[in-house]
Amino acid sequence: MSEDPLPRRFGPYHLFDKIGEGGMARLYLGHRKTDLGGERLVVVKQVLPMLADSDEFCRLLTQEAKLAARLSHRNIAQVVDLGREDDVLYIAMEYVEGFDLRDLLRACSKKQLPLPVQYALLIAVEMLRGLDYAHKKQDDSGEALGIVHRDVSPSNVLISFEGDVKLCDFGIALAFGAEAFLPEAGVQGKAGYMSPEAAVGAPIDERSDIFSAGVILWELLNGRRLYRGEDRQAPTLEMAAAAVIPALRHRGYPLEEELHAIVMRALAKDRDQRFPSAAEMRAELEAYVRESSLFASPLKFGQWLTEHFADEILARRRAREVAAKAIAAGPLVKLTVSGAPPPVAATPAPAMPPAPAMPPAPAMPPAPAMPPAPAMAVTAAMAAAAAPMPPAPSMGAAASQPAIDAARAVPRELGERASPALGFHSTISRPPLVAWFAAAALLVMLVVIALLSR
Ligand SMILES: Nc1ncnc2c1ncn2[C@@H]1O[C@H](COP(=O)(O)OP(=O)(O)OP(=O)(O)O)[C@@H](O)[C@H]1O
Ligand SMILES: [Mg+2]
Repeated sequence: MSEDPLPRRFGPYHLFDKIGEGGMARLYLGHRKTDLGGERLVVVKQVLPMLADSDEFCRLLTQEAKLAARLSHRNIAQVVDLGREDDVLYIAMEYVEGFDLRDLLRACSKKQLPLPVQYALLIAVEMLRGLDYAHKKQDDSGEALGIVHRDVSPSNVLISFEGDVKLCDFGIALAFGAEAFLPEAGVQGKAGYMSPEAAVGAPIDERSDIFSAGVILWELLNGRRLYRGEDRQAPTLEMAAAAVIPALRHRGYPLEEELHAIVMRALAKDRDQRFPSAAEMRAELEAYVRESSLFASPLKFGQWLTEHFADEILARRRAREVAAKAIAAGPLVKLTVSGAPPPVAATPAPAMPPAPAMPPAPAMPPAPAMPPAPAMAVTAAMAAAAAPMPPAPSMGAAASQPAIDAARAVPRELGERASPALGFHSTISRPPLVAWFAAAALLVMLVVIALLSR
């Protein structure tokens, strides 16, 4: 699957930013126009061809994604579409603007900022709420669907800038986990959060997810990985199968023994010794939160994120909005006129006076997951005036700058509207700040010339 420049059309979507790539899929941020003319931001997860070429893999993925699409819960990233386009198999899902837990922990350690325990507990409680809903989901005739996530791990726990916690990639691991298709590195990467029964390939049920949630909570409380491979290698399947769980370190939290007992029960090697359901584990954690007064709400968590990661939030929004502006002016229309010269790259932005330095990132109020267009436009105009663009933070493997570069390189073919993100030659009625700035400079020059020529 070649990487065509962005923005580009893909089925019903306009892809404008690449947000991640793993061994199995490539993720793009895009939007889709709704019937009523609205726009919906989505993540389009394109399965890499080595997997999508397998009929068995496609069958499994389709089956699982269809189940996942039935899940509708505030702690689960909503699957909105599943399809095949240009021979590329894809899943489209709700975009959760924020961090995944793996990246949040990395960002915390880079800043030497410990994640407060009340937020670790909040993440666990919210994650378990989503798991419980999925585990209990029934079909229309009241039959349990038997949904198991199978890959509860930090990269699949999304945390929005508002402090919401959402699981993604429900059940998809079943297809990805079909051994014949999975690259070795992929298996290893997953072993760190696998239940012992999953590691030996035994049949699993919801208690496997409870074990994985237990690993995440153990790591959040201990501030380190549970399983450590030799020489800093990734944990192995053997480690996961052995499930040797070191005792948690004492940190001086109130009633700490109670908390440790909950975590260790979730991590019992024998699944009959674990919590029988995510609901029961959550109830015990919530009881602990009450008794220890370690309360937190998504609102408070969002405020904490904003306080400590305002730069990242602002940088990411700027990058995304500038990328989005490449297509904001309307659909890209490709018209070819016979004998016309070959398409040229977008006109480079005219030499501009230095943009005014941006003030330090203000503490940003939490924004809705899908910001309304006007708010986006205002910030995008600010972003267009600010140069240079800060690199996007580490949400996915790829930063957003390439997307912006790609956006700038969109061919300006005959009939295509100039996009404000491609330079400052927009035809929209409200010119960007720099245009005003340039006009003012020109005016001053004319006045000076007039005065001098007197
Ligand atoms: N719905 C979403 N909204 C926002 N970001 C997302 C969404 N889904 C995934 N991402 C981001 O894209 C990254 C890559 O996702 P992907 O599922 O391909 O790989 P992974 O989660 O690292 O591995 P795997 O799911 O195979 O265990 C995620 O870690 C996350 O940061
Ligand atoms: Mg994932």
